[in-house]
Amino acid sequence: MRMSHSNERLTFIGSGNMATAIIGGLVEKKFPPAQIQVCGPSAEELERLNTRYGVVTSHEASDFMNDTDILLLCVKPQVMQSVCEALGPHTREATVVSIAAGVTTDQLRTWLGRDVPIVRCMPNTPAMVHEGATGLYAAANVEPRTLELIESLFAAIGRVRRVSAEAELHAVTALSGSGPAYGFYLLEAMIAAGQRMGLSADTSKELACQTLLGAASLAQASEDAPATLKQRVMSPGGTTEQAVFHLRDNGFSEQVQSAILKAWQRSYTLAGEEPPRLD
Ligand SMILES: NC(=O)c1ccc[n+]([C@@H]2O[C@H](COP(=O)([O-])OP(=O)(O)OC[C@H]3O[C@@H](n4cnc5c(N)ncnc54)[C@H](OP(=O)(O)O)[C@@H]3O)[C@@H](O)[C@H]2O)c1
Repeated sequence: MRMSHSNERLTFIGSGNMATAIIGGLVEKKFPPAQIQVCGPSAEELERLNTRYGVVTSHEASDFMNDTDILLLCVKPQVMQSVCEALGPHTREATVVSIAAGVTTDQLRTWLGRDVPIVRCMPNTPAMVHEGATGLYAAANVEPRTLELIESLFAAIGRVRRVSAEAELHAVTALSGSGPAYGFYLLEAMIAAGQRMGLSADTSKELACQTLLGAASLAQASEDAPATLKQRVMSPGGTTEQAVFHLRDNGFSEQVQSAILKAWQRSYTLAGEEPPRLD
């Protein structure tokens, strides 16, 4: 695999959930742990990452900055400014990757104090089981080869789609960033229905989870649209048709769409930008 031959050194700032998920995926895909450097305030998290994956750790980012090709900022948006201001003078030739929601490339550049190449990514929590969906935007000054490597880093924890305009990350946030919660909400409802029909909680959960997983996998693998796949399960007068007609008549599709558009508007508001109007 191409990634295993890469000589690039990665430095992660932050050692929490997302950093751990990405590091786990990379090591599993044979990215050399000796080329992964992790910095964060938590001695416990650093120790855990070192023991589990063999990555290099330090409390001081300056230990790594002379030897970093890709700098991954995996901290919460609230601390991003102070982290960038401290790192800025030391970033040298590194390409900066931020996974923080709502922090723009302009803000990152201002806080870093330099016109560094920046990539913004929006992964989601299924990255923890390497089934993440990541939307990625790269500024114009990111080298194509580096961008390819960064895409392969996120491909180690799921699927990656590049967007061509930074504003599209608001839609990515609303669709796939927040999306796992929509899936969990549907699961909750399916499990509750299973139990109302007399199935055990365990059986309901197992069947509901596998059903959504299977439907998504089938839709991903199939050349047919989800609408066609749905139609094929709906024999006239059958059980599926009964359920789908009930959802349709009660505005299921409109409700899901307007929920996602609300999240989209919220993403603009949280970033201090004017949200788009909904027709
Ligand atoms: N989780 C998601 O679903 C998701 C999805 C997309 C994007 N994101 C983005 O991913 C980023 C990280 O999220 P997360 O869920 O991984 O959060 P997290 O588990 O809280 O991890 C944040 C890490 O940053 C560390 N940290 C705090 N201040 C620091 C500093 N000054 N210097 C270096 N490290 C510092 C924290 O250490 P301590 O624990 O010791 O404070 C922690 O290890 C966020 O910006 C979020 O917007 C998350």
